[in-house]
This record gives sequence, structure tokens and C-alpha cells, in this order.
Amino acid sequence: MEKSGFLTFETAQKIAEKYSTPCYVYDEAALVAQAKKALAFPNAFGLTVRFAMKASSNRAILRLFDSLGLHIDASSAHEVERAMLAGIPAGRISLSSQQLPENLAELARAGVKYNACSLLQLDEFGRANPGAEVGVRINPGLGSGGTNRTNVGGPASSFGIWKDYIPQIMETAARHGLKIVRIHTHIGSGSDPLVWRKVAEMSLGTAELFPDAVTLNMGGGYKVARVDGEKSTDLAEIGEPVAKLVEKFAARTGRKLHFEIEPGTFLVANCAAVLARVQDICDTGEGGYKFLKLDAGMTDILRPSLYGAQHPICILQKTPDPAEEEYIVSGHCCESGDILTPAAGDPEGLSPRKMRRAHIGDFCAIGGAGAYCASMCAQNYNSYPASPEVMLKADGSLRLIRRRQTLAQILENEIQDD
Ligand SMILES: Cc1ncc(COP(=O)(O)O)c(C=O)c1O
Repeated sequence: MEKSGFLTFETAQKIAEKYSTPCYVYDEAALVAQAKKALAFPNAFGLTVRFAMKASSNRAILRLFDSLGLHIDASSAHEVERAMLAGIPAGRISLSSQQLPENLAELARAGVKYNACSLLQLDEFGRANPGAEVGVRINPGLGSGGTNRTNVGGPASSFGIWKDYIPQIMETAARHGLKIVRIHTHIGSGSDPLVWRKVAEMSLGTAELFPDAVTLNMGGGYKVARVDGEKSTDLAEIGEPVAKLVEKFAARTGRKLHFEIEPGTFLVANCAAVLARVQDICDTGEGGYKFLKLDAGMTDILRPSLYGAQHPICILQKTPDPAEEEYIVSGHCCESGDILTPAAGDPEGLSPRKMRRAHIGDFCAIGGAGAYCASMCAQNYNSYPASPEVMLKADGSLRLIRRRQTLAQILENEIQDD
């Protein structure tokens, strides 16, 4: 179960002395290793790997991936600006957004690559940038995802332009003189190889209808196992058949499509842990549960409460206690749903976890916390400040990459005129 192996007791102690707990800790060596694996994704005629920055948006991580040759997938105009402020050139950023950005024309002029995610977005883009190049995100009618909340393809999903509306895309593009240069899909976080192949076939079918399309973007969704029993996506297994399809497409049409992927989870999920401390231990008597209460919770890691996501949890002690106990690990929020050991896929169910016997004050490392944790938590609930982020560098040194938020920062936008 202990997958956050990069955090030893000694490192935890150093981090706690310098930055206190709770604290996110990233493992630079693991980030680099994941980036290299993604850059080796099978492809026929060239590959761009975009980091889906929604997974973890800290400047240090964006810059690290940029230095390794990754580009950026942004999900809002705000993310685009954040990436540009981190020094990422606009031309290396693509934007696929649920919300129509207000500054669409400006972003396009700066060189950001835009994928219209609805017919309205395509029309608005065309109005603002007649004659420009643009991508379209298609909902291929199929999805893949560990849970309904991470599946973003198929009829129950509003992401992308529904597959049957190709004539409307053509009509809108023609009206504004737009060139459709990218076909984009992202079907969710599950990456079943068969679904992926099917979606690739459909996307290539779509690309065939758009003679200006030079890029096929298949999105992200490559799963990584955080705990035993979960399966990681084998990038070669899903990528190789698709690279062959792209080759066949070229043989048939004479068009050598450039390939893009935009992983988030794959690049960062297992490269970080939340370092917390055991604050309290209580139980609800015979037939009840034993609870470990931490100084962290849904304010740092929301995925268990939201999806019933499973994260490895490890008690770190100077001298490991040889005994084991079963605990429900609960967060520090005044919210019964702030549970770090829910039943798998069922945020309302409780699943006691066997782990090393814990004592008050022990460190507790919650692994698999690199993706959708610092960037997607119940920030400031109960007025807890956002936790700091620390990079454990490849040479073993520590670098603070985000300070702990202060109460003054939480309050700074409140009007104090009474
Ligand atoms: C358009 C798009 N691309 C990429 C991703 C990254 O997905 P994952 O983190 O599962 O790889 C997402 C996630 O929601 C997405 O919406």
C-alpha cells in the first residue's frame, strides 16, 4: 500500500521543521521520469505532449515540464495567463475550455492555440478571428472514466461538440473563413485501450472530413495506480495501435498527422504526497470504528470525498511500530464527508484501512497527491489556509515552491468598511 515511498521519516522531519504540516511534497526525480515516459508515447509522424496544467498548476512544475520539452493544455483563460506568467510562450499553450473566454481574440493574437469546445465557441471565435486557424473538440459519443465524474465523453457529457454536428462545424467555419487544423478529443480518465482505439478511429474519420486538419489531439486520461489493485495505463499498449492507424490514414489520404496527447494525472499523480500529522485518535466503541484525525483533509486533498478515490496512506515513525491497526482516516474539516479512507468509488462508504499502529504526533503521508489535489481542493473551508508546496529536488535538497497562505490573504478581498 505504501506508494509514496520517496518520503522517509528523516525527510518528513526536515520538511516539518522548515515548513510545518500539512504540506504538499513533490518528488522532482519522479516528475522528470514521468515526463520522459510521456515523451516516448508511440507516434507515427511527430508528437507534442501537453501537460494538462489543471492537474497541478504551480509555476515550478510548469517550468520544470517546459524545460523538458512539454507544452501546456489549459482549461481556462486564467490558466493560459498563469502559464504565460510562468514564462511559457503562448505558442506552446493550447486552450480547450468549458467557458467561453472573454479575451479570446487577444489570446489567439498572442499565438495561443484554441480548440472550440462548442458550436457557440466556434462561432464566437470566428467572429473575433475571421480567417484564423482553430481546433475543434469533438465528443465522440464514447467515454472512459473510473467514475461518472471522470468520464467526459458520451451523451451524458457536455464536453466538446457532439459527433453528429460535423455539418454545423463546417457551416460555421465556412461562414467565418476558419481553417479547422486540429481535431481534439478527450474522453475521460480511464484509458481503456479498446475504447481509445475506437475513439482514435472515429477521430481519424473526422479528420478525413476536414482537409486542413494537420494535428490529432487525443487528450489525456492515462491512469496511474495509486494503490494495490489499481492498474496503470501502459502507454505503449494504447499508443502503438493508434500510431498504426495514423500511418494507415497517411497511406490512404497522403496526410501525415502530427499527434498530441495532454496527460495530467499520468505526469504528476504519483509524484507527490501530502505530509500531515496525526492530531487525535478516537473510536466509537465496540462494533464502531477507530479514527485517525489528521491536521489535513479535504482542504488539501478532495478526491476521496469527491470520487471515493483511494490514496496510499502511510504512518512515518522514527522507529516503526511493529503492530498494525485498522483505521478510518479523517480530515480536519467540520464535515462528515472529510474522509480519506472512503470505500473505493463510493465517497459515502467507510472502508477501514489496515496500517501501522499510529500515535498522536506521528507523521502521516498521503500518497498519490500530485494530481488534482493542490489545484482542486476545498480551499479555505473552515478558514484553513492553503498548504505550502515543497519540491524535493533530485539532489535531495528542499525548495519551497508555494508559501503557506496567511489569514490576511484569505481575508484580503473582504470589504472591511464597518
Ligand atoms: C481536455 C482535457 N485534456 C486533458 C485532461 C487531463 O486528464 P488526465 O489528468 O486524466 O490525464 C483533461 C482532464 O480533465 C481534459 O479535460
